[in-house]
Amino acid sequence: MEHLLDIDELSVSEIKEILDLAQFYADALNGGEWDREKLKDKVVMTLFFENSTRTVTSFNFAALRLGAELINWNAGVSSLNKNESFQDTIDTLGAMKPDAVVIRHSEYGAPIKVAERMECPVINAGDSYRAHPTQALLDALTMIQEKGSLKGLNVAICGDISHSRVANSNAHLLTKMGANLRFVAPDFFKPEKMPVKGITYYDSLDEGIDDCDVVMMLRVQKERIADKKGLPDDDTYFKNYGLTHERLKAAKPDVMVMHPGPMNRGIEISGELADDMKYSRMAKQVENGVYARMAVLDLLLTK
Ligand code: CP
Repeated sequence: MEHLLDIDELSVSEIKEILDLAQFYADALNGGEWDREKLKDKVVMTLFFENSTRTVTSFNFAALRLGAELINWNAGVSSLNKNESFQDTIDTLGAMKPDAVVIRHSEYGAPIKVAERMECPVINAGDSYRAHPTQALLDALTMIQEKGSLKGLNVAICGDISHSRVANSNAHLLTKMGANLRFVAPDFFKPEKMPVKGITYYDSLDEGIDDCDVVMMLRVQKERIADKKGLPDDDTYFKNYGLTHERLKAAKPDVMVMHPGPMNRGIEISGELADDMKYSRMAKQVENGVYARMAVLDLLLTK
């Protein structure tokens, strides 16, 4: 593994290796021991061209827990605002020789272009609607911790699929690891092409989550919807596609509810369900984000 740009480039054994190491860090940070200087003298640089709370902060935690130094480069106060090009910016930052770069960008494939120009490992922290590989890894870790294995799990990913990099990366990972994956969305959010073979599509939430072990809700990403003609209003959307306690009865009794965040309460999920720890695993997903990113940094920087 030279970079981490998407899940589709990883083999099953590489995914297992990352998840096993992530679980090692989960156990270590909850009362065990780990090498707190594993990445001593390494400098990790985060380049976030798009907003983030969870991803950027958990990469910060991950790097610091492993003893790395951190540079959180800030696009908003950079010379991009003096018309420096993206390519010149990347070449300039690369010339300072970071040991790893973590990048989020709204442009499709931007991390791939950065990886072509950088001499160090590049980790994709989310690009456009294309890929968000570390989100899929932390989601898988969360499912395995509770359900034991991904093989044979019935997983429904529901909502704004067509604008979701989370859905794409999860689709690659979950189908590769043997889960039964469903996409549940109104026609408006149905992707033109499924990211991988073997996904079953439902346009009814009630039918789509029937007998599911895991239901993952997605935010309606209004900022990515260029033509909003045909987009249901929030109340109509919640009525038809919002997950509630009542709706969740169609799934298995021990179903877990996930959401990558940020969530919109009262649009794709009710606030009551989001806060119900019997079902909701959103806080666990955030916690696991640190462990999954520690594993990725460790594997990429200590080869
Ligand atoms: N899930 C996720 O990527 O959240 P942030 O946008 O807050 O990083």
